[in-house]
Amino acid sequence: MSGAPIKSVGILGSGIMAGGIAEVVARAGVRAILRARSEASATASVNGVAAGLARQVEKGKLDASERDRILANISTTTDLAALSGCDLLIESVVEDLETKQRLFRDLDAVTNPSAVLATNTSTLPVVEMAKVVKNPERVCGIHFFNPAQVLPLVEVVRPVTAGDETIRRAAEFVSTIGKDGVHVLDRAGFIVNALLFPYLNNAVRMFEDGTASMADIDTAMKGGCNFPMGPFALLDLVGLDTSLSILETLHASFGHENFAPRPMLRELVAKGRLGRKTKAGFYEY
Ligand code: CAA
Repeated sequence: MSGAPIKSVGILGSGIMAGGIAEVVARAGVRAILRARSEASATASVNGVAAGLARQVEKGKLDASERDRILANISTTTDLAALSGCDLLIESVVEDLETKQRLFRDLDAVTNPSAVLATNTSTLPVVEMAKVVKNPERVCGIHFFNPAQVLPLVEVVRPVTAGDETIRRAAEFVSTIGKDGVHVLDRAGFIVNALLFPYLNNAVRMFEDGTASMADIDTAMKGGCNFPMGPFALLDLVGLDTSLSILETLHASFGHENFAPRPMLRELVAKGRLGRKTKAGFYEY
């Protein structure tokens, strides 16, 4: 596999993470092509990026010319074949293994064989995506945190199948876009989610038990640990559907009851209260 620097990145998906990743890539002067299944969702995602940049211009934190440069580096498509010239592909679609595997098969057929194929999965085994492509050496995880524009960390995940050159190029890319990369093996939850989600789940248990109110648990963890947000605000930020699926995967992998999703989380998801993105989760927005 050629070790050429990464000059253009295809981003698959149109959710909060895909838009955030596109912005980070474009800000670093690297071309970002955002591919969604429909033109409407691709446009909505880029409009979200544009709105965030406009707020920064209003606050005087970003020049209008810099905003224009970032936006000019982002294009959209619905056609997978339009990603054939990309050096790196970052999949950030729904956390469903079959959907991701289908996409990896399709990407394998249309992308340059020297391109790195990465997944932004939070907890699914990266090796399961590597398995479906002809050359599994070119597959790894590049896992961003929400909001991707703000949080400095990116986990570079190495499945057993990955080539050293793939991991080297992924780590180099992470550093090019100004993020702090850490290396981790392909275990459920990698570093951050494996440690974070038992804590978030136990906060829900504490509220269910009647030990304290949600607001007081949030205040306690902010004031007592200097965390930027309490657990309920963070669950609402991550999305309760995403949180539920992360806990289910962690529970299936490790079996410990700390990972078994709490009933209240399941109930809120069943009611369609998915957090900030639906304007209601543990809190109302
Ligand atoms: N998109 C873009 N920028 C955002 C943003 C967003 N969604 N939210 C906040 N920002 C920016 C703001 O514009 C602001 O930028 P400036 O300083 O340049 O103006 C900056 O971030 C700080 O924001 P605020 O002043 O509005 O608010 P804050 O100081 O309370 O920060 C926060 C908000 C960045 C979200 C902060 O509370 C935080 O870091 N919370 C913890 C988030 C966290 O732990 N995320 C990890 C979740 S786990 C995960 O993502 C893994 C997974 O796989 C699910």
